[in-house]
Amino acid sequence: MRIGDYLLASEPERALVLQVYDERYLDIEGIDEEIAREEVLSASVQGVTSDPTDMTTISTLIRDMHVLLCKARGTISNGRLSPRADWMPSRTSSAVSRLLVGELQKSVAAEGSRRIRLGTADSGSVFSINAESLDGRITVITGRKESGKSHLAKILLRGLLEHGAYSVVFDLNDEYGAVGLREDGTKTSEAGKVTVLRPGRDMRFSLSNVGLRSITNLLTHSLDMPGTSLREFVKIWQQLDERGELTLGSLETAIHQWRCNEFVRDALFARYHTIASSGLFTDREDQQFDLRGFFARSGAGGALVVSLSGVSPLNRRMVVELILSKVVDLLEHKKIPPLFLFAEEAHLYLKETYWEDLITRMRHFGVFTVFVTNQPDAIDQRIYRQVDNIFLYSFSNDADLSLVSQASMVDADTVRAIVRTLPPRNCLALGHSVMGLPVLLSVDPIDSPASGTTRRFFEDLVAVPTRGVTKPA
Ligand SMILES: Nc1ncnc2c1ncn2[C@@H]1O[C@H](COP(=O)(O)OP(=O)(O)OP(=O)(O)O)[C@@H](O)[C@H]1O
Ligand SMILES: [Mg+2]
Repeated sequence: MRIGDYLLASEPERALVLQVYDERYLDIEGIDEEIAREEVLSASVQGVTSDPTDMTTISTLIRDMHVLLCKARGTISNGRLSPRADWMPSRTSSAVSRLLVGELQKSVAAEGSRRIRLGTADSGSVFSINAESLDGRITVITGRKESGKSHLAKILLRGLLEHGAYSVVFDLNDEYGAVGLREDGTKTSEAGKVTVLRPGRDMRFSLSNVGLRSITNLLTHSLDMPGTSLREFVKIWQQLDERGELTLGSLETAIHQWRCNEFVRDALFARYHTIASSGLFTDREDQQFDLRGFFARSGAGGALVVSLSGVSPLNRRMVVELILSKVVDLLEHKKIPPLFLFAEEAHLYLKETYWEDLITRMRHFGVFTVFVTNQPDAIDQRIYRQVDNIFLYSFSNDADLSLVSQASMVDADTVRAIVRTLPPRNCLALGHSVMGLPVLLSVDPIDSPASGTTRRFFEDLVAVPTRGVTKPA
């Protein structure tokens, strides 16, 4: 047995489902004394060879006995699991046996049938979740650095693509672009569905296409524009819009000529220059990114990977803000299908208060977020309360551990005990995707080129001389 495994304590009518969450030695009265006595005896008395009643073996067995601490997860009767756990099986007449995760899940009615294979559970049997369990839900993948979070996110993303879903990925380390490729560089059937765009280079916006609502959102949330200036800005915008002259150039002229307080004009100019110099906006039609067009072009699902790695923090915030408000706008008018949003280290590009608002509103319109983070405290507690699925990798830090255990949907004991001892590449799945029954799984490798790995100094030093001697072809 390992921590995280399930046991079944069966009686003729019903059986109690138990999950092992911790393990310790059997502690019975007098056992310490017994151990001490034996130690003293073996140290001081030599030559005791005869043990006719085999006492030592029994005593060794008892001293080595383990006790498994379990939590009751429900009752199975007539092959169906119910969450009732208000009874105790008989200590003498019930039979305790191992319950495999696969069998356990068969006793619960699962939603959907689109499988995404994540790895193995119970040291060997295949473990999958249903894509439907992510649909309409909020998911968090968290754990310490280099534990395999992005890896799992890629498996989920590829799985969603295989089932024809749409996703937008905010990619900080340039690692999701290769999700459609195999390790040897050949393409999977999903490769054509992945589009990588770099804001400011192949992803630029026009004022008219972005629209007033997104721009005012951007001015308030990313550029901290005060209310008075914002009102003037809206008036200028509306005037330009009526004249059909929504371009960067005419916006600048209009601010110049606008009759208003000097402070307001300064505030307007400051924001105008930030927007104009960000390189995110263009007046040229052929350079404009069309989000709606992206969805229209990709028929059987697609992933839009927004590469944020070489983008300045301010531009990052602006791009994310623009894309999200455009997405919500298009979804509201039912112009694009619902989509999954993969957000790595979300706190780096949006304020947490704003995320909370987005999460609540966006889920309603059809944006289902997967947060990936190694700082669980960067996600607000109020967001955790709305989370449906959590994939937990190991944590060494106690503060992180207690935060996560409080936020997760099962008892804090289980989470603490299991997560503390998790080996690398193993994670604890909680919530909807496992039908409320925590599962410890070992995540599969992914057949995709390694990317997003941390660059190292010494590796480069080794690589340089070999590169130097090879002649160019
Ligand atoms: N289940 C797995 N099987 C094989 N390799 C894995 C597995 N999980 C992770 N890895 C490898 O371990 C390394 C770290 O994984 P990954 O980049 O996903 O970690 P991370 O938690 O996202 O790290 P960071 O916090 O730095 O973003 C990668 O090289 C990845 O390929
Ligand atoms: Mg990562």
